Amino acid sequence: MHFKVTPSKATSASVTVPGDKSVSHRALMLGSIAEGRTNVSGFLPGEDCLATMAAMRELGVTIEQHSETEVSIEGVGLRGLQAPAGDLDLGNSGTAMRLMAGLLAGQAFDSVLTGDESLTGRPMGRIIKPLTMMGAAIESDCDGTPPLQIAGGLRLHGISYEMPVASAQVKSSILLAGLYAKGATEIFEPAVARDHTERMLKSMGVYVYINGNRIGIMGVRRLKACEIKVPADLSSAAFLILAALLSDDADILIRNVGINPTRIGVIDILQEMGADIRFERPQLFGSEPVTDIRVRSSQLHGGTVDPGLVSLAIDEFPVLFVAAAAASGNTVFSGLEELRVKESDRIAAMAAGLEALGIEVEEKPDGAIVHGGQFKGGTVRSFGDHRVAMSLAVAGGIADGEVVVQDTASVDTSFPGFVECMASIGANIERVEDSAVG
Ligand code: S3P
Repeated sequence: MHFKVTPSKATSASVTVPGDKSVSHRALMLGSIAEGRTNVSGFLPGEDCLATMAAMRELGVTIEQHSETEVSIEGVGLRGLQAPAGDLDLGNSGTAMRLMAGLLAGQAFDSVLTGDESLTGRPMGRIIKPLTMMGAAIESDCDGTPPLQIAGGLRLHGISYEMPVASAQVKSSILLAGLYAKGATEIFEPAVARDHTERMLKSMGVYVYINGNRIGIMGVRRLKACEIKVPADLSSAAFLILAALLSDDADILIRNVGINPTRIGVIDILQEMGADIRFERPQLFGSEPVTDIRVRSSQLHGGTVDPGLVSLAIDEFPVLFVAAAAASGNTVFSGLEELRVKESDRIAAMAAGLEALGIEVEEKPDGAIVHGGQFKGGTVRSFGDHRVAMSLAVAGGIADGEVVVQDTASVDTSFPGFVECMASIGANIERVEDSAVG
């Protein structure tokens, strides 16, 4: 499947985007080991979260999907998960793999985690190391990639761990193992990464100690089920935000988007580039802040992106590269080495895509300098990466020729309905079969 993109004309619209991926994964995992029924509304029915749902069902949890976005989980308690019949296939999802590894390290049974071609190439040493320090036994391929074989029946103990990279997935993996560990588990993060796990654990009655970059947890007896209202995903909203900013005369409102302070780097960076983005009607969905986001067309300008914002905008750099390409002047990105080990090497993938559309990009080991210019038409590769595909589709909307984005099936991992949602703000993205674009 490919996208064929022709010029868009974003107008005035009020839209919603699907639920937050990170919160949806955590709702399934924590709801499964809580006591009682956890009702989830606004759940993201994307392939990544559905892989987590299937895995939790394999572990003996009854999960009902009443509609695409309404899910209820009959929690089995901390010690109630059962040995799966086979390997757990987590598809494309790094979050599912890393968080599940932490959860499964403390169980009484063995398990095996695997995934698709992209996921089985991603580094797992970053979780194997701290989990092993806690007493877990996890085997990977020799280069530290999945499948992961996790031994059960081991007694975990708390550790004090200084994370070498800012990563919410690593932090959450350790916290989940920490629920099963004897004594306290303490983590220091080098920069603040998303804190949805900490917030949800607190909502379920777990004491989580947070002091700056230091997070602590004790082994617990129980988690209490709760109601979880999932915010709309800011990482998905980012594509609509940029499409509206780059249009001639757009004014769009995106409703109930999560603005957890550990996620809003993209807004700060775009505002710094001259974007007219405002928050209206802020409120809380449980422990997560949400707001309506109003976006008006704006002239963007380049500059130097503060590397201190990287962990707060970690998934938005593909779309920010497109913003930089459409801005006047040059934009300097640094501190992005983590992008090289995401669903694809996102620095290389975006540099290749933008260059194919006539933009000059100087690639660096930890970032890039993007020279603002005019997109021309062309054919670009997504490298099987959902966010690269969607970012290049947004670029296509303002190119002066037709843009074909190849291999876009992965978009369904995080943003089912992307094409329709973009159409509702005036974008012209057509799904075409491989044969139709030659
Ligand atoms: C996520 C954390 C981030 C992010 C990913 C989702 C999460 O990864 O890139 O899409 O839900 O915890 P890292 O924490 O490894 O940077």
